[in-house]
Amino acid sequence: MLPGPVVDALLARAYNPPPMKISLVNTSVFSQKLPAIVLFAFEHERLAGPSSFKNLLQRLTDKEFKGAEKQLLLLHTAGKPGIQAGRVLLAGLGKRNEFDPEKLRRAMGAVVKKLCDAGIDRAAIQVACDEPGCSTDDCIAAVVDSAELVAYTFTKYKSDNDKPVEFKSLTLCLTAKCNLREVKALVTRRQIIAQSANYARDIANLPGNVVFPSVLADYARHLAEENNLKCTVLGKTALEKSGFGGLLAVGGGSAHEPHLIVLEYSGSRTKDAAPIALVGKAITFDSGGISIKPSEKMDEMKFDKCGGVAILGAMRAIARLKLPLNVIGVISAAENMPSSTSYRPGDIVTSYPGPDKRGVTIEVLNTDAEGRIVLGDALAYARERKPQAIIDLATLTGACVVALGTYAAGLFGSDELLLERIRAAGERTGERVWLLPLWQEYKDKIKSDVADIKNTGGREGGAITAAAFLEKYVGNTPWAHLDIAGTAWTTEERPYMAKGATGFGVRLLLELLGNWR
Ligand code: BES
Ligand code: MN
Ligand code: ZN
Repeated sequence: MLPGPVVDALLARAYNPPPMKISLVNTSVFSQKLPAIVLFAFEHERLAGPSSFKNLLQRLTDKEFKGAEKQLLLLHTAGKPGIQAGRVLLAGLGKRNEFDPEKLRRAMGAVVKKLCDAGIDRAAIQVACDEPGCSTDDCIAAVVDSAELVAYTFTKYKSDNDKPVEFKSLTLCLTAKCNLREVKALVTRRQIIAQSANYARDIANLPGNVVFPSVLADYARHLAEENNLKCTVLGKTALEKSGFGGLLAVGGGSAHEPHLIVLEYSGSRTKDAAPIALVGKAITFDSGGISIKPSEKMDEMKFDKCGGVAILGAMRAIARLKLPLNVIGVISAAENMPSSTSYRPGDIVTSYPGPDKRGVTIEVLNTDAEGRIVLGDALAYARERKPQAIIDLATLTGACVVALGTYAAGLFGSDELLLERIRAAGERTGERVWLLPLWQEYKDKIKSDVADIKNTGGREGGAITAAAFLEKYVGNTPWAHLDIAGTAWTTEERPYMAKGATGFGVRLLLELLGNWR
């Protein structure tokens, strides 16, 4: 256990978004007295503006700027009449007919980075409105999301003088026909959602020597206090009493006890409306246990808590937006370590009984396939609450990364409508998912000779056999599983995402729940 004061210090340093002020005006960017204004441009299309501005662009070659994707050009205005700002940043969006919100998020990410690199922390931007494939609202959401997401970096452990310039103030210049009050509400909503993703990223980026299951429980309690949620934490003794055999087995090898963390939000107008259950895997460090992993890249297994942490982020946004729903978040937290108290290959463990009053028995063939075991307990627990739907997020399999790479999460489930909604929400937020099958042949692969199921189905189709394992726990409840092993963190810098945890799932879940029925 971490001593009390250390935990307190951690909580005190809990994510506090650097204040980015976003203001709205109905006037042209050219009238803004700021260090810089930003103009987005489609490829080979002329930009509108005062004649002095057109003069500034006249001699530009295509190589310098033609509006291609990723193209950026920072120009000094040198007191040109009709332009109040000291600099103009041109940002390419690519071809107009290929435009979508993701292109704008990427361009906006590049813009904020460019400005910060130039030491500029305030700017105004002209928001291109009502393009085909991107409505005004979509454009504003994309700009705000991207500005917030790109502004986040994990610098807690870096000396102050290494820290980059933080972007402080953004003025969105809208056309006269935009309703400022409505747009303001949209901007606030998007800031809450993107900052909740950053909150998740900030916890997920913390290392395994700092975040143990009990620390995640502390974060959850803190979150509940601040946002009027109900929080229940089951520690080792309570887990033993109730028969959480899976979570206890996986956490058994660690000096840090496993925890089941439950957060409840009730915002539904009909108080007893069936909740939506969000379930997350939170292995604070996955060494593989007795079936230990190779040491190469094992450091990345501090990110094996990302599914559970995304649930924390989603609950934060759900509560702050006061969504008219009941939502229950269930996080299975454990550390998977090798020791004399570890569970072993060959062990048979019994899951939490759940509403069937009979726990699934699991033959453990590989202690590194621990995620499905801790999730089984959490899914059985969630199902006791009679939810209208269960959605789980987990960095479940390396096989999913092999199948889809790092640009889409694996999506599984049986409820066509739920799956389609999740797919669409992923498309709109840029947190893309791709449906994989759950055919009987895959389910057959996890049959065990000695127990109900075994915890591996072999190398082939590994992401699918893992999902088939989870399906054993959901009964008839509409359910979707997202394997976020490839998307939960990034080892390369992305256009609007620094290296490290991505918060994947927070924005997708809010897109889904924000439009629920
Ligand atoms: N947390 C890992 C999955 C993982 C691996 C996520 C690499 C991201 C990158 C999970 O617990 C695991 O180890 N899965 C095994 C399952 C196997 C032993 C059946 C895997 O994918 O190799
Ligand atoms: Mn593992
Ligand atoms: Zn794992």
